Amino acid sequence: MNFTTDYIIGLSPMDGITDEAFRLVQTKIAKPDLMFTEFVSAEGISRGGIKLYDTLLFSPEECPIIGQLFGKDPESFYKSAIILCELGFDGVDINMGCPAKTVTQHGSGAALIANPKLALQIIESTKKGIEDWYTGKTKISELDLNKKTLDVIKRNQKYSQINNRRSTIENRPSISVKTRLGTTESTVDTWIPKLLAQDLDFLTIHGRTLKQAYAGVANWEEIKKVVNMAKNTKTKIFGNGDIQNRQQGIEYCQKYGVNGVLIGRAASGNPWCFNNHTASPKERFSAMLLHSQLFETTFPSRQFDSLRKHFLLYTKNLSYAKSLRMKLIRLNSVKELLSLEDEFQS
Ligand SMILES: Cc1cc2nc3c(=O)[nH]c(=O)nc-3n(C[C@H](O)[C@H](O)[C@H](O)COP(=O)(O)O)c2cc1C
Repeated sequence: MNFTTDYIIGLSPMDGITDEAFRLVQTKIAKPDLMFTEFVSAEGISRGGIKLYDTLLFSPEECPIIGQLFGKDPESFYKSAIILCELGFDGVDINMGCPAKTVTQHGSGAALIANPKLALQIIESTKKGIEDWYTGKTKISELDLNKKTLDVIKRNQKYSQINNRRSTIENRPSISVKTRLGTTESTVDTWIPKLLAQDLDFLTIHGRTLKQAYAGVANWEEIKKVVNMAKNTKTKIFGNGDIQNRQQGIEYCQKYGVNGVLIGRAASGNPWCFNNHTASPKERFSAMLLHSQLFETTFPSRQFDSLRKHFLLYTKNLSYAKSLRMKLIRLNSVKELLSLEDEFQS
């Protein structure tokens, strides 16, 4: 992956938020230097979970984009890495940071911090998948995927215009991990060297523990420790946690020595955080409209009401929005949204 900026200010993956419609709006308004898909189950996509492939749709203008996997079965990561490469992703990221019980109770996500042996097997399998795909040693046709899965892979490739991109992909897709400081307390001194020994292209560290989930403030001093540990390795370090906008991201890169930062929650309802612009109510309305239209065309079978959480975020801090927000949480279509246009004062 080649970047044109000194510091990489990327969009953090957020399940249920950063889907294809969200990322397209983000790209059109203020493009991050790097983006990720929401996490997707390695076991699910390698065993033919057709619906999950919607999570892996991306448009060429979003690149560079990385597909993120979660799970606990190394063999599924091998297959899924090949699938993500075949779909045209610039890299494969492994989730070792999700604190959700539904994920950790099965030993995936941040639970892997407490099971480094399995975590390292997963990284090795993923690396091997990328390498075998890149060298042509293993082809997608050799993965025992059923016809429905092969067809949906073709659909995604067509959507992402992968044939036009192939000639521009010179590098091996990257391998990376996104993790936290530890489980109940920071264990960066023991956890991070194990990851760094894996020759990752980059490592994202969210400055909280699994126990903290999203509470409290991110500990950037611990992130700085990770930067120092990585000094003589090839691994780039991205910091993550509580960054509000590109400007602050650059300041944190300079202050803590990270190669980049990922911005998550601050981008929800505020794509302008990537160009430090304060959006007017009219601009917010235009973004909501674009988001809804892209959502309807990309995911025609999904319920419109899943957009309501985004509407509330787009109108966050609008002083007069209380009554408007009551209407927004009842919207069922783009047409209904259009009827509210005049309520967005300029
Ligand atoms: C609703 C939600 C969904 C998330 N889903 C993912 C995910 O799929 N993969 C992941 O690595 N992190 C996920 N995260 C964590 C974020 O990527 C990020 O690490 C965290 O929110 C801290 O960064 P922030 O303070 O900039 O939001 C999620 C966070 C939220 C709030």
